[in-house]
Amino acid sequence: MKESYRPEWPSKTDYAIGICGAGGIVNDAHLPAYRKAGFRVDCIYDVDRSRAEETAARFEIPRVCDSLESLAEAVDIVDVAVPAWENGRVVEVLTEAGVGLLLQKPLAEDWQTALSTVERIRSAGLTAAVNQQMRWEPGVRSCRHLLSQGVLGALYDVAFQIYVDTPWHLWGWLSQKETIEVLYHSIHYLDAIRYLTGCEPHSIYCSGSRRPGYAAKGETRTCTHLTFPDDLRATVLCNHHVEWGRSGQQSEFRIDATDGMAVRQLGLLLNYPSGEPDALRYITRADGQWREATFEETWFPDAFVGPMTSLMRAMNGEILKPETDVEDNLHTLRLVFAAYESMQTGNAIDLRHPSWQI
Ligand SMILES: NC(=O)c1ccc[n+]([C@@H]2O[C@H](COP(=O)([O-])OP(=O)(O)OC[C@H]3O[C@@H](n4cnc5c(N)ncnc54)[C@H](O)[C@@H]3O)[C@@H](O)[C@H]2O)c1
Repeated sequence: MKESYRPEWPSKTDYAIGICGAGGIVNDAHLPAYRKAGFRVDCIYDVDRSRAEETAARFEIPRVCDSLESLAEAVDIVDVAVPAWENGRVVEVLTEAGVGLLLQKPLAEDWQTALSTVERIRSAGLTAAVNQQMRWEPGVRSCRHLLSQGVLGALYDVAFQIYVDTPWHLWGWLSQKETIEVLYHSIHYLDAIRYLTGCEPHSIYCSGSRRPGYAAKGETRTCTHLTFPDDLRATVLCNHHVEWGRSGQQSEFRIDATDGMAVRQLGLLLNYPSGEPDALRYITRADGQWREATFEETWFPDAFVGPMTSLMRAMNGEILKPETDVEDNLHTLRLVFAAYESMQTGNAIDLRHPSWQI
């Protein structure tokens, strides 16, 4: 179990990385993770040069670039972490440069833009991935390992139960968005569900709302249910307004299978931003005892190494495509945008319908 959750290490990692966007997530997660991994970050660019300069000073990045073009010319990989509505414009420049590409989630804010952005990347022949780093969250990775070893039997249920107090006000622009929770938060869980189950759902139902009186356009509470072939089901239940302290909060996912189960506490979201330790407990029929696993690494920032290692492995020719390749990501975004259609219509969406085929 111990080693099975770590990313597979690329044979070559000394690619020159350029960072596009010097915001919160780059400072809090990308760069701390890359520093731990020993990756080589050569330059940084932000439309707000002072932000790029501050980040460069903090992480000893040798060069601050004046434009995205000059950043792309100087590196092998561009790691993009800008607001999603900027991704199309950024991709336009980067496809000309022919670099390896890692884009923050969400890749796009609507389905048509997602399709055209991926088409553009595909025609340019770039190796490109999306930063769906929850797949490298140690508990998610370990659960997948237990499932693929066969010790849990057949998986029939995955459930995320997230009752937390999310400070949405920290991202002021979010309150103006018509689509909030699924596009910016549950997207992690939907991607993780695809990874854990290893298959695509047949249908999705989603109900979204807010806490009464909460001033945001989009949804901040959601219940999403996915049906798969046979008995497999998955549910994501999120309420981001649990303001009464830790006792009322819960942040975990569970997998239930015919020969065992596992429960993972995601400490990051509890008592935010202080957080709490993670925890993973599991049982298999053959063993008959509850076991606990602990990991040195956690979701933020350690899992952020995962998408970059996977991109590098693809660039090295060790794997055909990055694990979270942009085309794979369309399958996650399809769930996100089908969830919004479900919210609007009040109906479950049949994902086998030709309009949802990729
Ligand atoms: N994977 C995750 O878990 C995770 C977590 C948080 C944020 N994100 C995503 O990361 C992205 C950035 O989030 P953040 O919280 O760091 O935002 P932020 O607002 O703190 O930072 C964004 C930065 O991008 C810069 N920027 C904007 N347009 C640009 C452009 N065209 N070229 C270069 N720089 C540009 C801004 O000046 C700013 O410094 C968002 O898409 C967000 O959804 C992902």
